Amino acid sequence: MAASSATKWAYLLCTSLLIMIICIELTECTVTYDKKSLIINGHRRILLSGSIHYPRSTPEMWEDLIQKAKDGGLDVIDTYVFWNGHEPSPGNYNFEGRYDLVRFVKLVQKAGMYMHLRIGPFVCAEWNFGGFPVWLKYVPGISFRTDNEPFKMAMQKFTTKIVQMMKYEKLFESQGGPIILSQIENEYGADTQAYGAAGHAYMTWAAKMAVGLNTGVPWVMCKQDDAPDPIINTCNGFYCDYFTPNNKETKPTLWTEAWSGWFSDFGGPLPHRPVQDLAFAVARFIQKGGSFTNYYMYHGGTNFGRTAGGPFITTSYDYDAPIDEYGLLRQPKYDHLKALHRAIKLSERAIVSADPAFISLGTYEQVHVFSSKTGGCAAFLANYHINSSTTVRFRNKRYDLPPWSISILPDCKNVAFNTAQVGSKTSLVNWLPTNVNRLAWQTFSEDVSTVDSESKMTVSGLLDQLSVTRDASDYLWYSTSVAINPSEFHRNVVPTLTVESEGHALHVFVNGELAGSAFGKEETRKVTFTGNANLRAGMNKIQLLSVAVGLQNNGPRFEQWKTGVFGPVVLHGVGRGSWEISHQKWSYQVGLKGESKNIASPMGVSSVDWTESSLLGQVHRPLTWYKAYFNAPQGVEPLAIDMKSMGKGQVWINGQSIGRYWTVHAKGSCTGCNYAGTFQPTKCQTRCGKPTQRWYHVPRSWLKPTRNLIVVFEEIGGDASAISIVRRSFK
Ligand code: GAL
Repeated sequence: MAASSATKWAYLLCTSLLIMIICIELTECTVTYDKKSLIINGHRRILLSGSIHYPRSTPEMWEDLIQKAKDGGLDVIDTYVFWNGHEPSPGNYNFEGRYDLVRFVKLVQKAGMYMHLRIGPFVCAEWNFGGFPVWLKYVPGISFRTDNEPFKMAMQKFTTKIVQMMKYEKLFESQGGPIILSQIENEYGADTQAYGAAGHAYMTWAAKMAVGLNTGVPWVMCKQDDAPDPIINTCNGFYCDYFTPNNKETKPTLWTEAWSGWFSDFGGPLPHRPVQDLAFAVARFIQKGGSFTNYYMYHGGTNFGRTAGGPFITTSYDYDAPIDEYGLLRQPKYDHLKALHRAIKLSERAIVSADPAFISLGTYEQVHVFSSKTGGCAAFLANYHINSSTTVRFRNKRYDLPPWSISILPDCKNVAFNTAQVGSKTSLVNWLPTNVNRLAWQTFSEDVSTVDSESKMTVSGLLDQLSVTRDASDYLWYSTSVAINPSEFHRNVVPTLTVESEGHALHVFVNGELAGSAFGKEETRKVTFTGNANLRAGMNKIQLLSVAVGLQNNGPRFEQWKTGVFGPVVLHGVGRGSWEISHQKWSYQVGLKGESKNIASPMGVSSVDWTESSLLGQVHRPLTWYKAYFNAPQGVEPLAIDMKSMGKGQVWINGQSIGRYWTVHAKGSCTGCNYAGTFQPTKCQTRCGKPTQRWYHVPRSWLKPTRNLIVVFEEIGGDASAISIVRRSFK
């Protein structure tokens, strides 16, 4: 049985490769669809797809990731297109390095795979500002994602640019390329209500605009029940077997986001989705007639630089995906899904040739059979009970089914796969040491005392952070001064300061000393600081360093969400007791001195005087830069920097931003995990009571053999002497 299945499997692979080759030669390439599936060059297909977002790994990793996806039994790679990475300022395009989209698509083609290009250009994706460039917000008269001319013009211009680029490189399937499907917008349906009639007009416009680009391949809109013809409405979710598309007589049932795990935010635990449940969800979808499943994510990767949105999304976008953040196979997830894919492929001909016949065998037991003269027979036997195994009779044979599971019978007789029976072992992460520890650090301190005198802007009142920084930096200084008479102090009363901020983090300095910090979190974005204010008679400086941790990435009118100190800012215990200083004159300074001097890069690192002094005195000093040099660790294992001894900040290696780090401990519930039963992200969490993210990916390709520059900026205070680089492996 095993040998004959393997032969069938090889045959199927060969035929799909052959179809691609023939298509290129005859230039008769088409992608159409009917109610059963997408139809590629005349063939109905059950397609298995996985999301790999190109900027979340390095170009050096791409080929390996794509090959691993192919070896895992996938036919299609799916990616969003990240507008803010491609157009950092209006009309200045970037398609280099991690943003080399054409190179990525061509690697998919080289591997003999298809591509689903989700242009958006709104992408959500836990990506900064949902993928929109921040400059877009400041286009006069603009309103995002609604019937607004400046927005529609900008969206059309970018979408057209991407489509033209792909056409020029002959990358659509209609031209012999790998792109079989494209997406316009992203889950707009949920937000339509907030925009009313203008929302509907915008969605209809977006659909028409996309179709008018004549790519020769179908367009989808996900979670858009009213998507107009010929656009296909698709499903996103943990389960999609309930879903029917916008016309079930003419459209196939496609699942554009089968969530393989979930994202994490700083301060929260790490989500984990058991593969038995993921496989069960996919089998449920296919048995109902679904014909395209995309794992979101198949490789999640890393939010390098300041690309994480949210706010509060971690730098790791591991997602508990089948390929981990570092490009290693996560077991048993990877192998179990591979086995599922094989069973589905063995059933493909039967599934595309017949509609499923449904037989109920009891409250929890179900059978779906695809049977026709031309396609043969495939059956799915399901047990929905979350605790009990069961035995079902089907065509005079008995089949045992574990709880919450489906068995796939590609010939209606023999079980090729059961979603709950996992063969491979669980991979356990093993961090191995390298020689990069005890680095010879030098330090440079941000000079708080000169921030206000160097400020170029002073106005009355508190400004929105984004309107001042335009996201050129995470950091914005708000500085003011308060003159206090000796008579205004009260005996036995320690003055305090309260600051209300819209987030995301806040460091408060009084007369040059850190009075304390306050941090927001995913659920409550507002930040309130209350602390003692070390005030003295005469002039006092109050300086607030407001820190963004990624911009809002979704929700109706998310571009209008506020960031930064909005007040009130109030002194207590001096003068008349409660003294609001929000409306007085504040000076603004964007970014840090170290940022303006570019000291994280090899070019700028020498532009300040670094101190060689022993680190002992530096421990827990706020607003401190650290730099050191190291030689690349031997070996081939992926690398990470262990930041357990540090607080919060950013790290760069050879001028490349590893991303934000923050060792805030995860709060939440991490109580066991049963694969059975409906999944939600809080179900099987881990790392409660430990830093949400302690290790940060250092791509090997960013290193030279010797003298690599590492720069760390620490906001709160940490012990840099304990920073080390480690190798990741699985045991
Ligand atoms: C979806 C969205 C994706 C991603 C996902 C959660 O709703 O379409 O872009 O944000 O949620 O990871």
